[in-house]
Amino acid sequence: MKRILTGDRPTSDSFHLGNYIGSLKNRVKLQDEYDTFVFIADLHALTTHFDKTEDLEKNIRGLMLGYLSVGLDPKKVTFFLQSKISEITEIAYYLSVLTSRPLIARQPALKDKLDSGAQDTVGLFYYPILMAADILSPRANLVPVGKDQKSHVEFARDIAIKFNNLFGQVFPIPEPLIGEVPTLPGIDGQAKMGKSSGNAIFLTDSQEEVEKKVMSMYTDPNRIHATDPGRVEGNPVFIYLDAFGTESDKLQVAKHKDQYAKGQVGDIEVKKYLAGILNNFLDPIRQKRAEYEGKPELVDSILKEGTRKMREEAQKTLNEVKKAMKLDYFE
Ligand code: TRP
Repeated sequence: MKRILTGDRPTSDSFHLGNYIGSLKNRVKLQDEYDTFVFIADLHALTTHFDKTEDLEKNIRGLMLGYLSVGLDPKKVTFFLQSKISEITEIAYYLSVLTSRPLIARQPALKDKLDSGAQDTVGLFYYPILMAADILSPRANLVPVGKDQKSHVEFARDIAIKFNNLFGQVFPIPEPLIGEVPTLPGIDGQAKMGKSSGNAIFLTDSQEEVEKKVMSMYTDPNRIHATDPGRVEGNPVFIYLDAFGTESDKLQVAKHKDQYAKGQVGDIEVKKYLAGILNNFLDPIRQKRAEYEGKPELVDSILKEGTRKMREEAQKTLNEVKKAMKLDYFE
């Protein structure tokens, strides 16, 4: 069975609808087809949050609840916490000595982070090397990530090829798996829903919060009256209806689109319909989350058990790395 690895930085304690559509949904599907490893990249979070560590523990628990509530199954998925696997940082060091510094310095992802206010630290510079070690330590074949992370997976690929060429076949060559889903816009109509943009609906929002957010959603700004013909294309309300409506909602969604375009239905009516659909989608997720929230020891033990399993994998890889590099002396 081929192996998948993917992870999230614990910079927040809950996922939003954009995270669901962009990655969680796909992971739930992939867990049946692949040996799946999902991890929380707390060391990577430090590159931007080294002075905000007080939230990390809460955020890590929140992400675990998020994974479990959307249906990632601990019987199928190995969950682990990056900082508990020192072999990963050790493997990262061995990769770093093979890494061209100017190549890392040119990474557009690094420039983006600096532009968005991150401090220009050695840790941030090291980000792609640590990420390559995350991927190569469990010897992952496939890495499902968003478009913005593709260059990092390609770096992991290149460094794995370089290592294998120099020292022999140790790493499988990982490949990025980029979801083809379009990005979910924010409730303010911005191109992307973001956790810090104030335009997100979270999987943890209550029914009332979801209703309130949906009623405030950006629609067609040129439509003043319900009788004005409205724009369906690119309208976030309809994008969400397409993304979250079930098979049995399809007919009604098509009808609302038609009415909207002809000026035969008001924004309020369509929004109420959307709020109902989102709450139907979220209800089982809320319920599952509440169940796990009532069993915090179980959630912690799922993470600990997965971490134990991953440590064995990483130890195996580290031993092979050292052996291949002829560093297995004095052992
Ligand atoms: N950089 C990823 C992000 O910001 C998180 C991450 C760290 C990751 N290491 C990884 C994702 C390894 C996939 C594989 O979302």
